[in-house]
Parts: sequence; C-alpha cells; structure tokens
Amino acid sequence: MSRYHQSNGEGFMSEWSKIRDKPREGWAFWGQHVCEDNGDGTSFTRNPELLARQLFRLMEETQLLSFKSVMGEKEQPTGDLHFVGTKEELIKAKRSFRTVEGRDILVVYHQETFYAVDSYCYHAGGALVNGDIEEINGKLCVICPKHKFKICLADGEGLYRGVNPREKPPVPRWYSKGIKQRTHTITETDGKVFVELSRQPGWIESDYYQGEKGKVERAKAEAADTGEYVTDDVF
Ligand code: FES
Repeated sequence: MSRYHQSNGEGFMSEWSKIRDKPREGWAFWGQHVCEDNGDGTSFTRNPELLARQLFRLMEETQLLSFKSVMGEKEQPTGDLHFVGTKEELIKAKRSFRTVEGRDILVVYHQETFYAVDSYCYHAGGALVNGDIEEINGKLCVICPKHKFKICLADGEGLYRGVNPREKPPVPRWYSKGIKQRTHTITETDGKVFVELSRQPGWIESDYYQGEKGKVERAKAEAADTGEYVTDDVF
C-alpha cells in the first residue's frame, strides 16, 4: 500500500535555481501529497530537493509558471496596430506568415473573413501555415500538419473527437479542450489589413513556441524530421 506525506515546501526556494534544467523523470503527485514513485508505491521522502523538483514539475504541468520564465524577458504586446499586408495580397495568398513585435503569426483568409493566430501549434510547434482549413462541428479550424490536431481559427479552441463510454452505444462526438492557441485581433481599413497582438492575460499553450525554449524545441524537431543533428549551443 502506498504511503504519502504532505509537502510543506521546506527548502523549495533555495533549491529552485538548482533544479530547473535537471531531469525530473520518475516522480509523481497525488493531490496535495508527494510520493517518490519507485514502482512499488512504498517509499516517501522529506528531502527538500526532491520536493522542489516535484513542485516544479507540478507547476510546469499545470501551467502556473509565469509567462516570463518560459518566454524570457520578452516585452508584453504594445497594443499597437501593425500593417500585415493589403487585403488584395492576403486574399490571394490565403495563408500568410508574419512576424509582429517578434511574435510569429499566421494570417488566414477564408470565406471572406480574416483570422490571425499564433503560427506554431500548441501541441509540439507544428507549422500551421501548412495546415489544411476545415469546418468542424460548425467551427472553422486549421488542421496541424504534424499530428492533425484541430484548432479553431476564431478563438484558438482545441477540438478532439471522442466517445463517452457511459453512452450506450457510445457515439463519437466533438469535444472542446479549451483555448489552446493564442489568437489576435485583425482588422481591415481602406484595403489595408492590421493585426493587434492579443493581450489576453495568463498562459495559453501556444505561448511556449514563441519563446526561446520553444524555438530550440522547434528547431530540434525540424532537424529530427530532416535527419539532421542539432545541439543547443547553436542557438
Ligand atoms: S504539433 Fe500540431 S498536432 Fe502535434
């Protein structure tokens, strides 16, 4: 039988800086209680470094880390309008990649409407500029070319198809994962199209792939796809 004890966070802050980049495999949480998972479920510890590692992982997984800790010292959006192209050229291109205030965004024109979303998929940084556009459950979505995740263009909601096993018989339906991809305000005036970056507070998963860590991961994934070898020190 498993034994647990409650973390008091002792030593957490002093260990914080030591643990951020160390491997954290093999640890798990159950509610507020911290366990060392040795496979037999019998051991536990009050070791401050272990607690710090476990707390860090929990914060990471529940997205409580601050925007800055992942994004670096990146400035917050200014609220300015940025010209991203003429209406004519954006309609012709249908999908256009733009960088606004250092953020990579995708501008989509579809069925007489413009959309602007973060350019890299929240799941693993796939390039949405190459994704197909489909209507799913009445919502216009971009399909990430990498693992086919569905992302609503209007609000960044993630959609997935699943079944409720309690239903007899279970019927596949579309379900929401919540807002996963940051979307931006796009407007058109006198044939010119402008984007204002989202200033919605809090963490949205696609923020990760706009930061330095996400950039490294994207490059590694791209290199792996092409069979190249990339080390961190090239960034
Ligand atoms: S990277 Fe987009 S679905 Fe995995």
